[in-house]
Amino acid sequence: MPSLILGSRSLAAWSGRTLVIGVTGSDPVTAVASTELPKTTAKHLDQVLPVLEVGTKVGATATLPAVPGLKADKVVLVGLGDTTTDEGGYPTDALRRAAGAAVRAAGKGSVAISLPHTDDSDLAAIAEGAVSGDYTFTAHKSAPGETQDREITVFSSLGRESAPKDVLDTAATVARNVAWARDLVNTAPNLLYPQSFTEQVQEVAKASSGKLTVKVLDDKALVEGGFGGIVGVGQGSSRPPRIVTLSYAPRSKKVPHVALVGKGITFDTGGVCIKPSAGMTTMKSDMAGAAAVAATVVAAAELELPVAVTGYLCLAENMPGGNAQRPGDVVTMRNGTTVEIIDTDAEGRMVLADGMALAAESDPDQILDVATLTGACVVALGPKIFGVMGNDDELREAITEAADRADEESWPLPLPADLRSGLDSAVADIAHKGDRWGGALTAGLFLQEFAKDADGESIPWAHLDIAGPSFNEGGPWGHIPKGGTGVAVGTLLEHLANLV
Ligand code: BES
Ligand code: MN
Ligand code: ZN
Repeated sequence: MPSLILGSRSLAAWSGRTLVIGVTGSDPVTAVASTELPKTTAKHLDQVLPVLEVGTKVGATATLPAVPGLKADKVVLVGLGDTTTDEGGYPTDALRRAAGAAVRAAGKGSVAISLPHTDDSDLAAIAEGAVSGDYTFTAHKSAPGETQDREITVFSSLGRESAPKDVLDTAATVARNVAWARDLVNTAPNLLYPQSFTEQVQEVAKASSGKLTVKVLDDKALVEGGFGGIVGVGQGSSRPPRIVTLSYAPRSKKVPHVALVGKGITFDTGGVCIKPSAGMTTMKSDMAGAAAVAATVVAAAELELPVAVTGYLCLAENMPGGNAQRPGDVVTMRNGTTVEIIDTDAEGRMVLADGMALAAESDPDQILDVATLTGACVVALGPKIFGVMGNDDELREAITEAADRADEESWPLPLPADLRSGLDSAVADIAHKGDRWGGALTAGLFLQEFAKDADGESIPWAHLDIAGPSFNEGGPWGHIPKGGTGVAVGTLLEHLANLV
């Protein structure tokens, strides 16, 4: 991980490798930084920018060596776009993307970032974006090369009263946990399986000096506890399932309690309803929901947020082994509901439903589940936007608003009561799969049945289907790397921080 340092001297005096400043506007394109640039620098840039035809699209970069008036070896100019806010600044998503793209363009060595900002959330976006853009995954390379543990200096124009150092420390905590979620997703599925995922969580909790507690339900405990959904999904694999409960509670007991439930399929072959190989290539990422939940709980504890958070990581491998589940099987879930299995590839909702039923037993104020649940959601919203469903309009809106603040893209989807009859089963209480049409919504409708307390009363619940944005199959863009993205951690932390 890079370290984030608050710039102390003037940016002109910063003598490291790469200094990042912004560019915006057209005719002429102008350079903008956290503070005014030295006169000689501004004059030089006025001369060269038109000649270079530097682009100002968000995240576009151009590199200049040895710029007069600056001590840095080189300058990366990064586009901030042309949208300005009411305060005359730039949208946080533009700052976040630009910082990430610039750090990636900077290559090796120390980096300093001087981008305009008007408040704490701007500065946080720049700092988080910078660390996020610096992310690489080299764990499986035999020769990873020199470590990228560099210093990233961020220049702030904010007064001391807004405590820019604290803003950077918080940003570093968020970014470190996002990177952990990405690492978990990127880790090869022969190495990350329910038990090894569990061990990582136990280690992180152990290092938290008592802030985090972990409880593990192993395969035997899951059978004894009546978790028929996750047991059924996991039984085709030689590597048995787990439900890991990871909790954080602040000292004060009078705080809201949020349950986070994460889909943690460490590999999804589809089971006996096996996927075609093209549909399986990215399925090591089918535990991205559980990774996001784990990272969020750890970050919430490190930031000492004034909310109690319990994460339920529903970990299983969906394999077509000799003992695998069949279509037609009927299983009994943790809450007693019997479910007819239609398609063993609709496994996510089965592990989540048991996790939600377990969460409901502790009477949380809200349940949020995070899951790479349906291809249908990717068809509906594309690869960068996650869908948000739920049984409570206010909570669903709170999630899309939190996503906005975190610069993660989301969109509400309905849970039409009319589609519920698609889940009717001739032999069990409910089937786990309905018609093909509206597949993201029927998955949501199935989960909704488990957002209930012991008396059958609804618990406020929202469902985040992150199948699209959890794994970037294309090239890096802005602050988003190739592979695991860590999506939803930012949204969940924003939501939790906003509860009280
Ligand atoms: N893990 C997949 C969903 C998925 C698809 C995630 C593409 C990321 C990218 C899930 O378990 C699945 O297989 N869903 C099926 C559901 C169907 C069988 C009802 C799907 O989307 O096709
Ligand atoms: Mn599946
Ligand atoms: Zn799946």
